[in-house]
Amino acid sequence: MRHQSFSFLAIGTFFALVHVGTARDLRNVTEPKTPQACAHLKATGEDDTKIIQNALDSCAKGKAVALSYGTFYSGPLTIPSGVSLLVESGVMLKAIPDPKLYDLGENLCGTIDDLGLGCKPFITMHGAKGSGIYGKGTINGQGGSVMTGSNITWWHLARNAVAVRKFQNNPRLIQINNSIDITIYQITLKNPPFYHLTASETNGYTVWGITIQTPTGSLNSDGIDAVGCQNVTIANCNISTGDDNIGLKALTAPGRYMSVLNTHINRGNSMAIGSETNYGVSDALISGMTINGTYNGIYIKSNTFRGGRTSNIVFENICISNVGKPINLDTAYYNMKGNSTPVFQNITLRNVWVQTNGTIVIHGMSNTNPIVLTLDDVHVPKGTKYSVRHANITGKWQEDATGSPCGFAGNGK
Ligand SMILES: *[C@@H]1O[C@H](CO)[C@@H](O)[C@H](O)[C@H]1NC(C)=O
Ligand SMILES: *[C@@H]1O[C@H](CO)[C@@H](O)[C@H](O)[C@H]1NC(C)=O
Ligand SMILES: *[C@@H]1O[C@H](CO)[C@@H](O)[C@H](O)[C@H]1NC(C)=O
Ligand SMILES: *[C@@H]1O[C@H](CO)[C@@H](O)[C@H](O)[C@H]1NC(C)=O
Ligand SMILES: *[C@@H]1O[C@H](CO)[C@@H](O)[C@H](O)[C@H]1NC(C)=O
Ligand SMILES: *[C@@H]1O[C@H](CO)[C@@H](O)[C@H](O)[C@H]1NC(C)=O
Ligand SMILES: *[C@@H]1O[C@H](CO)[C@@H](O)[C@H](O)[C@H]1NC(C)=O
Ligand SMILES: *[C@@H]1O[C@H](CO)[C@@H](O)[C@H](O)[C@H]1NC(C)=O
Ligand SMILES: *[C@@H]1O[C@H](CO)[C@@H](O)[C@H](O)[C@H]1NC(C)=O
Repeated sequence: MRHQSFSFLAIGTFFALVHVGTARDLRNVTEPKTPQACAHLKATGEDDTKIIQNALDSCAKGKAVALSYGTFYSGPLTIPSGVSLLVESGVMLKAIPDPKLYDLGENLCGTIDDLGLGCKPFITMHGAKGSGIYGKGTINGQGGSVMTGSNITWWHLARNAVAVRKFQNNPRLIQINNSIDITIYQITLKNPPFYHLTASETNGYTVWGITIQTPTGSLNSDGIDAVGCQNVTIANCNISTGDDNIGLKALTAPGRYMSVLNTHINRGNSMAIGSETNYGVSDALISGMTINGTYNGIYIKSNTFRGGRTSNIVFENICISNVGKPINLDTAYYNMKGNSTPVFQNITLRNVWVQTNGTIVIHGMSNTNPIVLTLDDVHVPKGTKYSVRHANITGKWQEDATGSPCGFAGNGK
């Protein structure tokens, strides 16, 4: 219990405590191996949905359907348990931009309404074990293409929805629910009508060496979201998009034991935790990251609508450039209000370099529920602005960053 009242507390520079805890994926994860093919497919140039789905449905467990040649056009696909999809180098799989193909039965897909739940995803895994998506090819959601039967694109629909404060019914690119031991390796993802890669309540989840390359004008185009997942490793990725590059969340179940390693974030919104922290996000290590040209850098966000506990989080070896709010820990995200209490505790920033001027935001809930933050070797430029309230900060912001490259963060791809 705290007995002291304070709004901003900085406790000296002596800090030598090394956390050797369990803030990471509990598995020992190594580079994935691409499974053997059960079938090699060549694109017909027509709608290949049935051909791909039939091949997936008849593929032996442990093997992959290889898309081996050409540009494939498809509607929604389901990857069965134990089976993988392999998009080989030089091959593209494109989502046909026809809302009818993704409609969940109410003729809402491709329209605007109050919920935005009218479409199924382009690629679904549900209750799968040991499935994956592999290969150096590209999956293109065609979010910037005009929808069949309409005169606007999926992204245009999303902007129209924002303008009238409603939601677009657009398909997600890849949705993985309630699954175990899922691997996403090497693939390039681009232009989703909605989120790129979302895993929900999935345990044992490895995303390794993927590239996400989507323009800024794409609303809600989150890169990699792990929602209520455990034992997660996201490693050696390169993510440029229009919304959160990575989001660690806990909407319906706790999100914990997560490692984000050697990853480059180049445009988009942030390396985020939240805002769906309801069930608690904890024990996460974000290590070896460059963040360049996003709106926020390290971003932990929640509010009293979401609530939940965000704790035991380590950000280390991070280099941040050209970011408006390089560090933003906000318990009043969008001012959404409810009856829950967000708690941000035991957050550590270690060897973090902010290379360009920006505003550091640390907004805790109250003096009795402050953000508990440790700064260990955190460097910012002279000229940095601060907006800090209700924070218990150990360590200090060292104003000695000079803008030169950090040299350590990320190991490329
Ligand atoms: C703080 O988090 C670190 C890293 O997860 C962990 O090792 C340590 O035990 C935590 N400390 C407390 C007091 O919970
Ligand atoms: C991971 O590797 C370490 C060191 O080799 C070992 O002690 C530990 O038991 C391994 N953990 C798992 C879950 O295999
Ligand atoms: C996470 O991985 C560890 C080590 O392999 C395992 O013991 C544990 O059961 C896993 N947790 C979940 C929820 O799968
Ligand atoms: C699309 O068509 C509607 C009428 O059907 C029209 O009002 C609208 O301006 C058109 N939008 C574009 C981008 O052409
Ligand atoms: C998968 O989970 C998401 C929430 O993350 C949910 O919106 C969607 O309905 C789920 N899909 C299925 C098929 O259960
Ligand atoms: C950030 O990105 C810009 C534009 O893409 C590039 O010119 C610059 O070198 C990058 N900076 C760092 C530190 O990577
Ligand atoms: C930050 O802003 C100050 C002026 O407020 C300026 O002197 C300094 O060069 C800037 N530093 C960087 C790294 O942008
Ligand atoms: C600040 O946080 C540290 C670390 O959790 C704790 O030991 C200390 O009591 C807190 N100080 C106040 C005034 O709450
Ligand atoms: C990340 O992707 C961009 C765009 O494809 C590319 O220019 C950049 O070199 C990549 N960075 C790394 C480190 O792979």
